[in-house]
Amino acid sequence: MNILVLGSGGREHAFAYKLCESTRSENLYVAPGNAGTDKIAQNVPIGVNDFPAIKEFVKEKNIHMVVVGPEDPLVRGIYDFFANDEALKNVMVIGPSSNGAKLEGSKERAKEFMSAHGIPTAAYQSFTADTLVEGKAFLETLQAPYVLKADGLAAGKGVLILKDLNEAKTELENMLTHSKFGAASEKVVIEEFLDGIELSVFVLTDGKNYKILPTAKDYKRIGEGDTGLNTGGMGAISPVPFADQAFMQKIEERIVKPTVNGLQTEEIEYKGFIFIGLIKVDGDPFVIEYNVRMGDPETEVVLPRIKTDLVSLLEATATQSLDAVALEIDERAATTVMAVSGGYPEAYEKGKEITGIERIGTSIVFHAGTTISNGNVVTSGGRVLAVTSLDKDFRRALEKSYENLDEISFDKMYFRKDIGFDL
Ligand code: AMP
Ligand code: GLY
Repeated sequence: MNILVLGSGGREHAFAYKLCESTRSENLYVAPGNAGTDKIAQNVPIGVNDFPAIKEFVKEKNIHMVVVGPEDPLVRGIYDFFANDEALKNVMVIGPSSNGAKLEGSKERAKEFMSAHGIPTAAYQSFTADTLVEGKAFLETLQAPYVLKADGLAAGKGVLILKDLNEAKTELENMLTHSKFGAASEKVVIEEFLDGIELSVFVLTDGKNYKILPTAKDYKRIGEGDTGLNTGGMGAISPVPFADQAFMQKIEERIVKPTVNGLQTEEIEYKGFIFIGLIKVDGDPFVIEYNVRMGDPETEVVLPRIKTDLVSLLEATATQSLDAVALEIDERAATTVMAVSGGYPEAYEKGKEITGIERIGTSIVFHAGTTISNGNVVTSGGRVLAVTSLDKDFRRALEKSYENLDEISFDKMYFRKDIGFDL
């Protein structure tokens, strides 16, 4: 099978790595890819939102399957673009239709979906500039801290959690009337604060059947002890130790089943991943958000634990026959630690030469923000690479990831030394 992966991060390198392992993959392309995917697949200089160029490439190379990494092309309707084109409609696209992608593209839509299908989540109301006064009044009925969410995509920055009521009112006004997050905050969801511990559950669905993939926990803050600014993710662990069988049972019954049933009853075409952000409050799971793709860096710990042939698993997703596939999971724990450019998530420099990757034998190095310049692997983004290890338990796996990170260096490299500290 000829396969095209869309994206350029550690997530897409992890997809390419697993797809490469399959005897069923013939030609593997990544658009636009990075220095890591360049080693195991062919990089193609096409942007993930350039649908016409993707179409030409898919026809030229006789691509059978497109695996969509990031949310942006999904929300913009890449699935529908393929489904509605005579020349492309037989190509398997792994991802939801734009209708399904609204579960990530609009926080309000996600909340409406959850209420319609009885899925546990925080109580909420949504507001626009026209209902700013009502929004402020609603804040007065809540207890601190206050959770404000820009409705649209805001590159992971659209959620504010504020301790002070007046500050919350001011920020609500900034979001609604001063475009704090651009068009994304023309509508704001205000919701009840849930106090608990977070985890993510990943589901692969063909729209009818589903498979629950390994759980993961990511570390979003830049600083040790979960302090400082939010990032795309500084590390991840799978499985999540506190997600025992009884808790997973609750997640499946109360959240996964009603979500997949909801997609069916609403006739939403969805052949892809659902990344459910959850919070455990007094032993019960609540949904914080849906994402319509895999997480990054969660993919770098989830996929290495999947033993089932990934091409077959994705093909079954596209052909709505997931019920016929057995999902086999590696019992070992996986950890990943992200090395980032000094300064990230604020301003940072690029183009720093990375050394030592070739010395790593006991971990897998997934590239994120890397490129090749004059034959050298250099940094090209904030998150640069993720070092993934597998071992009996997460502590041993982490030791490996850290030992191997010590072999790698680039100017101003930074990583958190406390991944897993809270477990
Ligand atoms: P989101 O972009 O929806 O994942 O929100 C970003 C982060 O804000 C989450 O990972 C949580 O840490 C936090 N958060 C979002 N909603 C809530 C809530 N209702 N209660 C507590 N924390 C929340
Ligand atoms: N690591 C969080 C995300 O991919 O959204």
